[in-house]
Amino acid sequence: MPAPRHDDVHDALIGRDFELGCVHACLLGARHVLLEGPVGVGKTALARAVCARLDRGFVRVDGDGRYTEAKLVGQFDPPLVLSHGYRPENFIPGPLVRAMREGAVLFINELNRMPEGVQNVLLPAMDEGMLILPMLGEVRAARGFAVVATQNPAEFVATGALSEALLDRFELVRLDHATEADERAIVRQNAHGSPPDDLIAAAVALVRATRVDPRIRRGASVRAAIAIADIALHLPAESLDAAVLGAALLALPTRIELADAHGGSLPAVLSELGERVTKQLEAEGSAPKKR
Ligand SMILES: Nc1ncnc2c1ncn2[C@@H]1O[C@H](COP(=O)(O)OP(=O)(O)OP(=O)(O)O)[C@@H](O)[C@H]1O
Ligand SMILES: [Mg+2]
Repeated sequence: MPAPRHDDVHDALIGRDFELGCVHACLLGARHVLLEGPVGVGKTALARAVCARLDRGFVRVDGDGRYTEAKLVGQFDPPLVLSHGYRPENFIPGPLVRAMREGAVLFINELNRMPEGVQNVLLPAMDEGMLILPMLGEVRAARGFAVVATQNPAEFVATGALSEALLDRFELVRLDHATEADERAIVRQNAHGSPPDDLIAAAVALVRATRVDPRIRRGASVRAAIAIADIALHLPAESLDAAVLGAALLALPTRIELADAHGGSLPAVLSELGERVTKQLEAEGSAPKKR
């Protein structure tokens, strides 16, 4: 079965021209790419956009500590092996073998969370385009095969880092949060309803404020702004900024954490930030209006 193409990707990538050019150049040069950036910054969106642009298949794997080599590579179907033996047709390819055979991009989310054994399987596939599997033999990568992996920046990584050998096979593309204008456009494109521009502006400004406030350990991503816009649109409230604050109180507790030294509560911090953001937007002439 061929790797899924991008018929399901109709959302255009907003901005990111520089990063898109970098990843595109790496893949055209038959290199592998490590995308580093905080949660929700747009790593997956960027990787999908590059694959769509190159018309390359995209095989996705989500890393976690219990992922196994057999899952990544594939395995023989035990009942078929019992009845017919180790025939190649009884091998069920995993994402790595599928991507190699199809010349697709193997997209591995949070590669650093994968156990070391899983990371090691990638080594020969990445620089020799080749794997040798017991009872199956050699698997050769078709032209176009590449690994695009993601990891969160070092300060966010609770679990292991990538080995030196693995890092030596990747080119690094870093992503930071998009500009305010691009984040507004991202929310507009990804929101489930049609939130008005002033609501989008308030949701984005509030989320951006969480990233620079010293009381907050780690701010939220544009994904939180999308959630706030989705919820605020339907939340009964007497003003738009009250709806945004109410939505933020639902969307942000799962996504941000107060700094240890700060004694205040998240609702208090958010309502203070909300007021500040309203004033800021008022000064710019795009203040949330009364409903
Ligand atoms: N440049 C962009 N253009 C269009 N949509 C974007 C862009 N950046 C982010 N998004 C949207 O924002 C949301 C988060 O982006 P994405 O899932 O790509 O982030 P991520 O870095 O892969 O997150 P995670 O670390 O959780 O895997 C998605 O809904 C995505 O479609
Ligand atoms: Mg992702």
